Amino acid sequence: MASIALCIHFHRDVGLFILYIQQRHLTRGQRLAVTLLLPTFVDYKNDCFRKDGEEFRYISGSIHYNRIPRAYWKDRLLKMYMAGLNTIQTYVPWNFHEPSPDRYNFSGDRDLEHFLQLAQDIGLLVVLRPGPYICGEWDMGGLPAWLLHKKDIVLRTSDTDYIAAVDKWMGTLLPMLKPFLYQNGGPIITVQVENEYGSYFACDYNYLRHLTSLFRSHLGNDVVLFTTDGAGAGYLKCGTLQGVYATVDFGPGGNVSAAFDAQRQAEPHGPLVNSEFYTGWLDHWGEHHSTVSTAIVAKSLNEILAIGASVNLYMFIGGTNFGYWNGANTPYAPQPTSYDYDAPLTEAGDLTDKYFAIQDVIKLIPEGPVLPSTPKYAYGAVPMKKVDHLQTFKHLIVDALDILSFSGPVKSIYPLTFIEMNQPFGFVLYQTKLPVDCSKPTPLSSPLNGVHDRAYVSVDGVAAGILERDKALTINVTGKAGSQVDILVENMGRVNYGKDINDFKGLVSNLTLGADILTGWEVYSLSIDQAVSQGLLWEMGSRVAGTPPPSPLSVPSFYGGTFVIPDGIPDLPQDTYIQFPDWRKGQVWINGFNLGRYWPARGPQITLYVPASILSTAVPNNVTVLELEGDPCTPGPCTVEFTNTPVLNATVKSDHKHQRALFHKEDLL
Ligand SMILES: *[C@@H]1O[C@H](CO)[C@@H](O)[C@H](O)[C@H]1NC(C)=O
Ligand SMILES: *[C@@H]1O[C@H](CO)[C@@H](O)[C@H](O)[C@H]1NC(C)=O
Ligand SMILES: *[C@@H]1O[C@H](CO)[C@@H](O)[C@H](O)[C@H]1NC(C)=O
Ligand SMILES: *[C@@H]1O[C@H](CO)[C@@H](O)[C@H](O)[C@H]1NC(C)=O
Ligand SMILES: *[C@@H]1O[C@H](CO)[C@@H](O)[C@H](O)[C@H]1NC(C)=O
Ligand SMILES: *[C@@H]1O[C@H](CO)[C@@H](O)[C@H](O)[C@H]1NC(C)=O
Repeated sequence: MASIALCIHFHRDVGLFILYIQQRHLTRGQRLAVTLLLPTFVDYKNDCFRKDGEEFRYISGSIHYNRIPRAYWKDRLLKMYMAGLNTIQTYVPWNFHEPSPDRYNFSGDRDLEHFLQLAQDIGLLVVLRPGPYICGEWDMGGLPAWLLHKKDIVLRTSDTDYIAAVDKWMGTLLPMLKPFLYQNGGPIITVQVENEYGSYFACDYNYLRHLTSLFRSHLGNDVVLFTTDGAGAGYLKCGTLQGVYATVDFGPGGNVSAAFDAQRQAEPHGPLVNSEFYTGWLDHWGEHHSTVSTAIVAKSLNEILAIGASVNLYMFIGGTNFGYWNGANTPYAPQPTSYDYDAPLTEAGDLTDKYFAIQDVIKLIPEGPVLPSTPKYAYGAVPMKKVDHLQTFKHLIVDALDILSFSGPVKSIYPLTFIEMNQPFGFVLYQTKLPVDCSKPTPLSSPLNGVHDRAYVSVDGVAAGILERDKALTINVTGKAGSQVDILVENMGRVNYGKDINDFKGLVSNLTLGADILTGWEVYSLSIDQAVSQGLLWEMGSRVAGTPPPSPLSVPSFYGGTFVIPDGIPDLPQDTYIQFPDWRKGQVWINGFNLGRYWPARGPQITLYVPASILSTAVPNNVTVLELEGDPCTPGPCTVEFTNTPVLNATVKSDHKHQRALFHKEDLL
């Protein structure tokens, strides 16, 4: 025994996998010694995890704290515990915590330590996926956009600038997490390295090796590290690394043992693990809402559990892409604000038939109360007014530049990107003048498809059309030489999957007018979120009804309204949903909190989830809307509506011919 301990001690410095490999050659007594030394580890001899010496398997559910208001973390975790789960799984999105280099945020809704502590207090273990890349339908797969300051950076590889940023970030994150490891008395039993790396083109083993030693250097050599890849030899090839336990992901409805055969090829011994068992699926704007049948989920889950595998249900609760946090797939297709995912708990944390079906399959319901769905309240219609103190009926963003753009314009012959403007999210305004008379309709084009992602074009304050990445590369404009051209460009979410994650925003290539490149730009960085939360737009005044001729397209404008939570009704405020009858597309804030994007003109999402935690009973609640395309308030009146029922599955009104293929793992679903 002493010699084994010595051997272990010796090899701890260079990585635990050596210990595991050796373990296969140990006698029973020697293995017992290993068991006593390690609180959690992969038991290659008995094809299982071992925790505190006992055979162990986890039944886990994914919950992303970054998609749920902090006030609801406990409620959601308790509901997961009451479903019979013994574990939760979460990503850590780097860009959520390091918004600009060396500026970290771990407070409020970003308080990861508090989230982990809550999980532990409730009795849940944690499978942690700290990335650095997470995919997850999250902006740029969790990588901070500021990495793109190096224009030709090769993300997710040994690129020296990328590695330097990763090392710095992990040097902050991992020491913070170390006390939360199981061996240190915390809930974290395993830690994932990267995410589905085998689906990425680079196949850079040195990068995976670097991450592995980085993780071990911060977390200790006894941490159980794992990788996750699609259940196919092709995915596992570049995603796995000797010494890091290889797991797979696959959805319901297929042949469970065949899927695990793929894991067995990479990992002949050890526990079977499905790290992402899909309870539902993601959505894109302009496509039908995804659903996955409860019966099929229950059947496959039953099969997975019957063969003793560990499993993580992705998602158990999807939550919400508040603000600008959604990602996108390619050809460019951004995900909507809701990340409901047709999961067993809805976006708002409500119990579904799927929840109870899964509970029935797991059959390990702990003692405790069944937690109710949170009540919803229909606050009704709220009258909205257009913010327009000058009564010009012109371009409000242009009129309000002194409020919206703190830094003033940057002059440039050719357009600049968001990153060159040092603005990661939201909207940037590009101004120039028509260089020639365009008395006849003249094509304004983005020949290199460089509008990322949507451009609202006006000439002399009148809406002229919309350019859209991969969809609309040309519009016609008319106007006199010298007319002002205003182009508001919206970042609709960075690509989060595949080779195109270096997703620059703004006008990333030149626009042409006729045959000539447009030049002489003034580019304004816009601080819309600050202006909204400081109530600056509120002070601008508004008008009730206007008289300009109705037009199919309007210039982007702000609208405001207030509502009061009624008195005398117990338990208010409650959660609600906001919807936009007669509105087209835009962004909405309530009391300065950026709820996200609405786009009923494209669907399938119609209502946005409004958590009670952002509402006030003490003072009137403020609704601010930036409507980009239509003007429902002219001639008026116009309202937004608060209802108690979500609608995420409206008929899609886009002109897409085909529903796109389900993203990357359709063959496994
Ligand atoms: C940190 O994040 C929280 C939650 O989103 C936010 O309320 C707070 O303002 C942020 N802090 C800073 C300094 O940006
Ligand atoms: C499932 O796959 C296994 C191979 O792992 C095979 O033996 C079995 O026949 C398959 N079952 C069905 C129903 O296709
Ligand atoms: C622009 O105008 C020309 C001439 O009127 C027309 O043929 C063309 O279809 C228009 N293009 C667009 C994108 O509207
Ligand atoms: C715009 O065109 C000019 C001249 O061809 C070129 O130098 C410049 O790089 C282009 N800019 C962008 C953003 O594509
Ligand atoms: C709504 O805006 C007004 C004016 O800026 C402000 O006084 C009030 O506190 C805001 N309400 C909330 C709930 O923030
Ligand atoms: C949308 O979902 C609701 C609730 O599940 C369902 O009743 C309705 O039929 C669905 N509508 C469409 C168009 O699929």
